[in-house]
Amino acid sequence: MLPNKQIELKLQAAVRAILPEADTSIVLVRPCPDPKFGDYQSNALMSLAKARKMNPRQLATDVLAKLDVGDVCEKVEIAGAGFLNFQLKSSALTGALQAAARGEHLFFDETASPRTAVIDFSSPNVAKPMHVGHIRSTILGDSLARTLRLLGHRVITDNHIGDWGTQFGKLLVGWKKHLDAAALQTNPIAEMERLYKLVNAASEADEKILEAARQELVKLQSGDAENLKIWREMIALSQKQFDTIYGRLGVKFDHTLGESFYNPRLKPLVDELVTKGIARESEGAIAIFFDDLPQLKEQPALIRKSDGGFNYATTDLATLAYRLETWRPDEIIYVTDGRQQLHFQQVFTVFRRWQRAAGILPEEPTSSSGSAQTSSDLPAGRAAARSLKLAHVWFGSILGEDGKPFKTRSGETVKLADLLDEAEERAFKIVSEKIPDLPEAQRREIARVVGLGAVKYADLLPNRQSDYVFSWDKMLALQGNTAPYLQYAYTRIKSIFRKAGETSNSDKSRVNIQHSTTNIQLAKGEEIALANHLLNFGLTLEAVAEEYRPNFLCNYLYELAGKFTSFYENCPVLKADDATRASRLALCDLTARVLKQGLGVLGIETVEQM
Ligand code: ARG
Repeated sequence: MLPNKQIELKLQAAVRAILPEADTSIVLVRPCPDPKFGDYQSNALMSLAKARKMNPRQLATDVLAKLDVGDVCEKVEIAGAGFLNFQLKSSALTGALQAAARGEHLFFDETASPRTAVIDFSSPNVAKPMHVGHIRSTILGDSLARTLRLLGHRVITDNHIGDWGTQFGKLLVGWKKHLDAAALQTNPIAEMERLYKLVNAASEADEKILEAARQELVKLQSGDAENLKIWREMIALSQKQFDTIYGRLGVKFDHTLGESFYNPRLKPLVDELVTKGIARESEGAIAIFFDDLPQLKEQPALIRKSDGGFNYATTDLATLAYRLETWRPDEIIYVTDGRQQLHFQQVFTVFRRWQRAAGILPEEPTSSSGSAQTSSDLPAGRAAARSLKLAHVWFGSILGEDGKPFKTRSGETVKLADLLDEAEERAFKIVSEKIPDLPEAQRREIARVVGLGAVKYADLLPNRQSDYVFSWDKMLALQGNTAPYLQYAYTRIKSIFRKAGETSNSDKSRVNIQHSTTNIQLAKGEEIALANHLLNFGLTLEAVAEEYRPNFLCNYLYELAGKFTSFYENCPVLKADDATRASRLALCDLTARVLKQGLGVLGIETVEQM
């Protein structure tokens, strides 16, 4: 077990000895923000004391008296208002590194309490090109899925595509009257987009066309065979486009249950909500009111329109119920842009009421003090946490260098396929300048990995809730906090091993030395700093999973590369004496493995040479 976990478990036990009724799952040990004070820190005692109106320093003193971490810690101190700071013994640090070098772990433990998480992400709309707006949901959702899986959780990914809705009325009119079969062959998405725009514009000018679209929609919804057939074809053509892009991005879904899948469930759902007194009629429509919630007071959720059609919220409620029945998740994570905050706040609140009416939830949530259970940004999500954690993981927009929404030069939304092409093309130019002698196929492959990596990393690095400016030059730079920098750092370590291999060929006594040693000695400051940072990989992964923030991992990896550079500049590896050389090579190897695994969790590949 990793030393931080040992400390955490012992600390939890010591807290239970003093406060037998306390929820110790919130007693966590985290890296110390300032290494001056120690390696690890826990601030949990302060909130435990506060909730009980106790003196936090006194509680810390009492807990400390019950805590024996002498086997892994040099010292434990109470600091400030009641922090506990832990300083690791160097034997604990080297012990953990040696276990990693033996392949026993890579600085993270699989969770002892696996959760089932459904992740709803990407979810583009049918008959439209995937554009740059879809990238954040796709990349963010994919990296969360990978992180949770790596930590041993059960993850179900579900692509909730928009394959139902009013746009199909117009699309059907267009398909029947204006379809260009040849264009559909060569570029189906562009053709469908053209049809939609054409009929959309025409119906704005001509009420009769709008009415025709409405009729087609009604026919589709009532199961008209011809319309269903066309609709299915539109979905199949779109799915092909989605699959191409997902293939390039290395993103996989366990399920693609689009909105249409839930159609049969919508009417019974609305009826049930009305019967249970959760929803009521309002101006011909059916709505749910939130008079008790100041932030939703003026914002009723519509679940049936006055024309009988259902709403986005209706489908999401049906989807939620289906997921709960089918997969029994502990957690559902929705990754969409920030404009959907209100929507999910409504959906989560209604769902909680619904569960309460069905007797699944207790009458009123006692308080949100179990807030450690959720990282949803919404109070509604927090309250729903009791049995099922609902999290809306939202993100900001991508801006152009002019600070306005990111567009093409001619002012159109940027298509995702074009963006990925351009990334690879730009990376190819850079790679070709750097290593012109490499055969073209190899340069193309490196450019693919670097170009896609750069785009993904640029998307994951900023705090997801802030907007970010899309800049090719910045994201492709070999210096700075970028994917190419980290990928390059990885190849540099690999080249150390290539050099070490050459030495070993010329010097028989050194053959395979880099693989055989697990005897790690840490002497210099830079070595210790690198080792300590390696040890925090798992804690970083856990923080990503807890707060749904892959940017923590980006910054961790960037720091790792920086610490490796100082180590490599200050601690000779290949020229050191045998034992030191072997120990330092082991540190190099562990750094490379963490870099590769860390980038992998972000959905970013590495190459051996670039
Ligand atoms: N198709 C929606 C859109 O493009 C996103 C769906 C997100 N998932 C959900 N369960 N509502 O905005």
